[in-house]
Amino acid sequence: MQALICAKFGMPETLHLCEIPTPIPGPKQVLVMVEACGVNFPDTLIIQDKYQFKPELPFSPGGELVGKVIVCGKEVSDFQVGDYVLGLSGWGGMAEKALVDEDRVFALPKDIPAETAAATLYTYATSLYALKDRGGLKSGETLLVLGAGGGIGLAAVELGKLMGAKVIAAASSVDKLAAAKAKGADLTIDYTEEDLKTRIKELTDGEGVDVVLDPVGGSYTEQALRGMAWGGRYLVVGFAQGEIPKMPMNLPLLKGCSIVGVFWGNFSRKEADKNRENLNQLMNWISEGKIQKPVVSKYSLKEAPKALRAMMDRKLVGKAVVVLN
Ligand SMILES: NC(=O)c1ccc[n+]([C@@H]2O[C@H](COP(=O)([O-])OP(=O)(O)OC[C@H]3O[C@@H](n4cnc5c(N)ncnc54)[C@H](OP(=O)(O)O)[C@@H]3O)[C@@H](O)[C@H]2O)c1
Repeated sequence: MQALICAKFGMPETLHLCEIPTPIPGPKQVLVMVEACGVNFPDTLIIQDKYQFKPELPFSPGGELVGKVIVCGKEVSDFQVGDYVLGLSGWGGMAEKALVDEDRVFALPKDIPAETAAATLYTYATSLYALKDRGGLKSGETLLVLGAGGGIGLAAVELGKLMGAKVIAAASSVDKLAAAKAKGADLTIDYTEEDLKTRIKELTDGEGVDVVLDPVGGSYTEQALRGMAWGGRYLVVGFAQGEIPKMPMNLPLLKGCSIVGVFWGNFSRKEADKNRENLNQLMNWISEGKIQKPVVSKYSLKEAPKALRAMMDRKLVGKAVVVLN
């Protein structure tokens, strides 16, 4: 079978397409014929050996794959050949076939196309967990989303609106802010042109925002924390800018606010039932049309390094998906 292979850690350009033997599932694994694989920021880290999960070389990146089960391991009880599924495999998805542990496989309704599922579930599940379970976002509150034109960001904008919040989207370009507007953002800030803290205060009549969802980190974090309202919740989701910020601890004291960590991967393992509930909720919202069609750039398996490069260069608006066949 064909697979995009990471044979040594490095940049996307070091990945190459090659023919490898089809893997054989272990007793509690399934083999999936991949139809689509979402491109996520952790894919850019895992190929550089900068992520918390470290697969052995050689491996294929791609942790969010969608397709049909073609072989089941001897002890698999919840799935059978032909099932249409989402696999949250960590890696291995940028290949024609991929192994997924049974407990990381989720049945998908047939009415959700593979591209949509692969472009939606990982980022929306992270943002839903962040806003609902970690942030306790309430209707009528104000939500600020950083990196609002990216995968996690656009999901947070749309879910924030669905949960009844007033949403301020912050991002680095006109295109990204337009995408956030199309997902329902009420107000926008271009943080490469405007001072983030000053604009937050201007847009909230000096009150600040109740919840911040931050997948970017770096220099924006302290400005956003300074723009929080009394009793706010600051959701730490990621550090796409590359720098892990260090905060003056008087800020949460003065604002009576919480800084809350969000680690969806561990939540999905440690609180698997709650995660399944969230995924089912998302699938229902997709089927009911409450979540719009995702903003997707499509790539073939051969072109997948270009998708990873665009993500690393901050050029991607919305999600990239690798489409097979
Ligand atoms: N905590 C969790 O459970 C969890 C789960 C999934 C992902 N994450 C993390 O969340 C972060 C965002 O993931 P994503 O899928 O939304 O990625 P994405 O689609 O690439 O979006 C990230 C955004 O970060 C901003 N950014 C600022 N500086 C950047 C830089 N130097 N390089 C790249 N992007 C930069 C960009 O927006 P602007 O150009 O508008 O600034 C970009 O749109 C990643 O760090 C990822 O590892 C965390």
